[in-house]
Amino acid sequence: MVWGTIFWLRKTVSSPMFESFPLAPPDSILGLAAAFEKDPRPGKINLTVGVFKDEQGRTPILESVRQAEERIFKTQKTKSYLPIEGAPEFTKSVSRLVLGEDFDFSRVAAAHTPGGTGALRAGADTLARNFPGLRVWLSNPTWANHGSVFQAAGMETLVYTYLNGGKTGLDFDGMIQDLESKGRPRDVVLLHACCHNPTGIDPTLEQWERISSLMAEKKMIPFLDFAYQGFGDGIVEDTKPLHIVLRKNPEVVVCSSFSKNFGLYSERVGALLMIGADGSGTEALMSQVRASIRCNYSNPPRHGEAIVVTILGDNDLSALWRSEVDAMRTRISSMRDSFIRGMSSMGRDFGFLATQKGMFSYTGLNAMQADWLKQERAIYIVGTGRINVAGLSPDTMTTLCMAVDEACKL
Ligand code: LMR
Repeated sequence: MVWGTIFWLRKTVSSPMFESFPLAPPDSILGLAAAFEKDPRPGKINLTVGVFKDEQGRTPILESVRQAEERIFKTQKTKSYLPIEGAPEFTKSVSRLVLGEDFDFSRVAAAHTPGGTGALRAGADTLARNFPGLRVWLSNPTWANHGSVFQAAGMETLVYTYLNGGKTGLDFDGMIQDLESKGRPRDVVLLHACCHNPTGIDPTLEQWERISSLMAEKKMIPFLDFAYQGFGDGIVEDTKPLHIVLRKNPEVVVCSSFSKNFGLYSERVGALLMIGADGSGTEALMSQVRASIRCNYSNPPRHGEAIVVTILGDNDLSALWRSEVDAMRTRISSMRDSFIRGMSSMGRDFGFLATQKGMFSYTGLNAMQADWLKQERAIYIVGTGRINVAGLSPDTMTTLCMAVDEACKL
């Protein structure tokens, strides 16, 4: 028995460790985008990952970003480390962008994070390291990575109803009922501040009032993922739901991303804003945010942050950037309308997409139909039926509509 155990231990310890790892499943969004790149078929269409594309199918560098980079190139003097929470000019300017000029910023512990994902993780870590055992409610469905991020921080994930049975609209009563009947004080509730990912279906402002009151009554913590500011109704208009939540809830977490609205995907620029009841706890809160970041990625990357600071700090660049965000939003919305018209010309009613906002639309197609589109038509959409509307162009529209019509017959 003893010799048997020793033999087993020696065998286990001496066999290669890395070779024994099981294969992890591919990421349901980025894995598909990688498979698309390898697909040799001509005319293939990629509607997977949420990146904006222009009519020619390119993901352009915004003109405001180009001009800011030229200025940075001429004036930047160092590549030395930034503070753990990023440069103060960055945290101040993005706090103003997200919370408005009149907010009491003494309540805000703000940090530059690598993208919105970095903000989600830093926020989740900060909460979980101080309150072990926290639970977080996610909409069903939600962004494919939300669950993993919160679980990696050690939080238990639960889901609340979001879509109606036909997957064409919000089941608001179901959402409220789930949170009201099962939510507990100090439960975290992940809400999409605008342009819900993956469905494009947002609550109305009246419904946001109810959500906000419920969070306050139940003493739950609203945790807003704000990755698409400017892609719903406008840069300022899209902050309305957040302000409704802030009016009734003393403690709120906001995770901003500047991947989409500044087109800075690979520069990894986002922000975590942890807002306390009053300024008295901000210093300690900030120290906890720093502690979470330091043991994760230490401090943020400089270049993207400098671009955002340069644009937001200059009236002309800011105006140019705002007009570029408006143009992106308008193009996406015209592609959504064109898809609805295209499907209608084939006798299919996709009118429910008209109220959806932001980069994504939930088509109602199932995983089998999504797979058929990939295998048979080289059209890549996420298995949940989500399409990146911003990836469409007039040139690809007819091909897509014809293929979706065929998929609907399966
Ligand atoms: C998406 O949902 O496609 C984007 O947020 C990109 C990503 O990282 O998944």
